[in-house]
Amino acid sequence: MCGVVGFVGKRACADILVKALKNLEYRGYDSAGIAVFENEKIKTVKAKGKIREGLEEKLKKEPPLNAVCGIGHTRWATHGEPSDVNSHPIGNERISIVHNGIIENYREIKSFLIGKGYEFESETDTETVAKLLDHYYKGDPIKAIERVIGVIEGAYALGIIFKDHKNTIYAVRKDSPLIVGKGNGESFIASDMTAILEYTREYYCLERGEIAMLDGSGIHFTDLHGEPVEKELLTAEWDVESAQKGGYEHFMLKEIHEQPDAIRNTISPRVKDGMPDFSECGLTDEKLRSYKHIFIVGCGSAMHAGMAGKYLIEAVARTPVIVDIASEFRYRDPLVAEGDLAVIVSQSGETADTLEALKLSKAKGADTLAIVNVVGSSIAREADMVIYTNAGPEISVCSTKAYAVQTAFMYLFAFQIAYVRGKIDGSRCRELVKGLLEVPEKISECLEDMSQYQFAASKIFNADSLLYIGRGLDNALSMEGSLKLKEISYIHSEAYAAGELKHGTISLIEEGTPVIAVMTQNALKEKMISNVRTVKSRGAKVIIICRSSEKIDEDCADYKVGLPDADDIFLPLVSSAAMQLIAYYTAVQRGCDVDKPRNLAKSVTVE
Ligand code: M6R
Repeated sequence: MCGVVGFVGKRACADILVKALKNLEYRGYDSAGIAVFENEKIKTVKAKGKIREGLEEKLKKEPPLNAVCGIGHTRWATHGEPSDVNSHPIGNERISIVHNGIIENYREIKSFLIGKGYEFESETDTETVAKLLDHYYKGDPIKAIERVIGVIEGAYALGIIFKDHKNTIYAVRKDSPLIVGKGNGESFIASDMTAILEYTREYYCLERGEIAMLDGSGIHFTDLHGEPVEKELLTAEWDVESAQKGGYEHFMLKEIHEQPDAIRNTISPRVKDGMPDFSECGLTDEKLRSYKHIFIVGCGSAMHAGMAGKYLIEAVARTPVIVDIASEFRYRDPLVAEGDLAVIVSQSGETADTLEALKLSKAKGADTLAIVNVVGSSIAREADMVIYTNAGPEISVCSTKAYAVQTAFMYLFAFQIAYVRGKIDGSRCRELVKGLLEVPEKISECLEDMSQYQFAASKIFNADSLLYIGRGLDNALSMEGSLKLKEISYIHSEAYAAGELKHGTISLIEEGTPVIAVMTQNALKEKMISNVRTVKSRGAKVIIICRSSEKIDEDCADYKVGLPDADDIFLPLVSSAAMQLIAYYTAVQRGCDVDKPRNLAKSVTVE
């Protein structure tokens, strides 16, 4: 997804902008560029492709830039193919802009501007904003921005420079992320703090209807009428090191290893005297008792965490839960209403469909609870109640620790609902919470030796397609295991309820088809063994993920990935680390770009 950066200071800024853009590479992009104030002009350099091969190569061919102020962008194409001309910054000799988001009414604006004599070079929606600014600009940037904001519809985070307001950046946003960083005698704008952590940890959250102006004297905020706005300066807890690889070959591997701590950071603050406690966000016992329906909505891994939540809440709290994919939920006139709770799950807090699902739930009168990792993100700000998952920055596009903490939260949530609704007593609730607090240790045990995951990966890395099978919670969690594998290794993979195979999917099994069978549920063991034997007898090569202590006959499964012992309810969460590692080593053995899989963006801020 597009990344926006900007810098004003006393140092030459081209390298700072490029570095900041590199720090945003994880968001996914296909072109990059910068625009700076150089010799009384706006100088733009931009190129299709990776920063290293495109933008940096072009910059090397230019005379050195002395500019101390500029804006930069990584573009993830939505309107128009990835190309030099569609790259940002976009503008003319008077104005240049960078944009993250989508302008929904760009066609109307384009027709209006063509009527005024403007000609368009790119296929982007962004160019309409640049030209509209140019149209309204009569010397006062704030007035021009105010006019433009009144016309454009959709989502935007904009960084803007005007040639005749030298070394000054203007920024404005609606529904797309943008923070303003305060350094020592220098200022920044950025899509998120990862871009600028090595320069500063202090930042402001820019809100809708506010304009930030950054110049040599500092940072000034106004409303759309130019009236000053006072804002709170925040400090990012994330340090530079935590946003970097810390010695691991990939961010994904680092983030898998961070899961034990991440789960502790999510769960421990919400446990008081051994019992779940969500009072920090206003989710009282009374409310939890009163909700008629519980919806859980998200996309991708976040939705899979919701699926685990459904299994857990229904099993422990005997309360039905509706889980939905946000892009479906928002367009199917869902039955969510006043008296219901909509739990909105998102790592980034910026996913467009998830944000809209949240707004829709609110509009229909439901209470909304956001389970979000990124502090101050749009979903966090929009929701009635927020639980931050405290996992730290997740850089790899492929979600691992964020999924783990969302799922861990679902456990605690299920226990609390069960308790307040009288489905379990205090002593059982305490016992369950204690078990959950032991999960990080079990995951750490799983992370001690990588050899069994590397071995399993060596057995599947040549496959074209495979199946994950499981029952109960294993089925819910293997949906995520399967998504991990396909998104980073590009091997087609499906997760299937083991008992459902015989209703069609089993016809896919032929000699050598890999099947990963997840079997952590003692209560369902005999059924699973029978499903495994069924696929094995049809030629499948079976890798079984189960307790290390489990005795598996050779004629049942080919290879075993062993897990530490834990109660049935908790072992699936432990097994998810094993599935992530199998996916990781498979992708590594296939030579894939693990942290930046093709076609994917970290934060999907458009539909
Ligand atoms: O930031 P979000 O949690 O809202 O993102 C949702 C999905 O886009 C995300 O989980 C995606 O499925 C990941 N690539 C999975 O690894």
